[in-house]
Amino acid sequence: MKKALITGINGQDGSYLTEFLLDKGYQVWGILKRNSVAENQTYRLNSVYGHPNLKLEYADMLDFASLVRVLQKSMPHEVYNLAAQSHVRISFDQPIYTAEITGVGTLKLLEAVRLICPTSRVYQASSSEMFGNNIDADGYQRETTAMSPVSPYGCAKVFSYNICVNYRNSYNMFISNGILFNHESPRRGSNFVTNKVAKEAAKIKLGLSDKLTLGNMEATRDWGHAKDYVEAMWMILQHDVPDDFVCATGISHSVQDLVNFVFNYLDLDPQKYVRTDPRYLRPEELRDLKGDCSKLKNALGWKLSYTFEDMMKEMVDYWLDFFKKNPQANG
Ligand code: GDD
Repeated sequence: MKKALITGINGQDGSYLTEFLLDKGYQVWGILKRNSVAENQTYRLNSVYGHPNLKLEYADMLDFASLVRVLQKSMPHEVYNLAAQSHVRISFDQPIYTAEITGVGTLKLLEAVRLICPTSRVYQASSSEMFGNNIDADGYQRETTAMSPVSPYGCAKVFSYNICVNYRNSYNMFISNGILFNHESPRRGSNFVTNKVAKEAAKIKLGLSDKLTLGNMEATRDWGHAKDYVEAMWMILQHDVPDDFVCATGISHSVQDLVNFVFNYLDLDPQKYVRTDPRYLRPEELRDLKGDCSKLKNALGWKLSYTFEDMMKEMVDYWLDFFKKNPQANG
């Protein structure tokens, strides 16, 4: 039986990847960092919690010994490093914590893999945030686009990307970077813009709220569905050689377009409800993202199954259903 270890297993991507790998017959190990509310640890894993092939262990990216212990216990064939402080604006509030988890945490994991199970294949969750405001002449970012990050989070991800390439070359390890553009779902944290808009618009529709306050409406992002993107992660580790791949839809929308689409779907006028507040701006903004994933499509045959519109409808419908059942909840 193939074994995989996932850091960040209880995040959006970790939970979808767990379902995907269990379906493929893997034994899936995941690390959880201790949280005072135990229920908050695993709610995204509800559909698979208690599955005989799912093994959860306490460990932390800050705690090298705990990573060593879990690797020794699991001896995985594949390691997916999805753990991070992944919120870009919050990385300006907690830059050191972000660097330690999102940057040095990766190095701790690589070093532990090198010492304990050096033939394991390692997937690193790299990010389009690494490109900063660099765009190729044709309007896209791709594997060869220069990286000039504009946030502590982006800087930490560039460190992780580089140390992965360095370990791959230095030690001949199978380590691959997936450079993923924004990917969303109903499981997305509701302080990321897509799910914030979907959730608040659903509340407005049901009469539970009367406003939505946002930051930069002009920024554009290339938004895909997390379910499609976890399949890419797995495909990247099945390739015959370790390599780095962009994963994106190739279509970008502005935050304003996102708002218009969601409010239009709910038959609401955004001008009546949407406000902006500088508290949601970042000290330095990444303005535009649009990815070219030709390499992933051509080398591995990856395909998208969701459109932006289908994904946003799924998210809005999730929140409509949630608040109809729990009108008192704040989600
Ligand atoms: N979060 C948030 N909240 N973003 C807002 C808001 C708001 O109220 N108003 C406007 N935005 C804008 C942000 O300024 C940004 O330009 C865009 O919406 C998307 O913000 P997020 O959803 O927070 O995502 P992100 O692009 O900063 O980062 C995500 O994608 C990266 C991949 O490029 C995260 O998932 C990162 O972890 C990931 O690496």
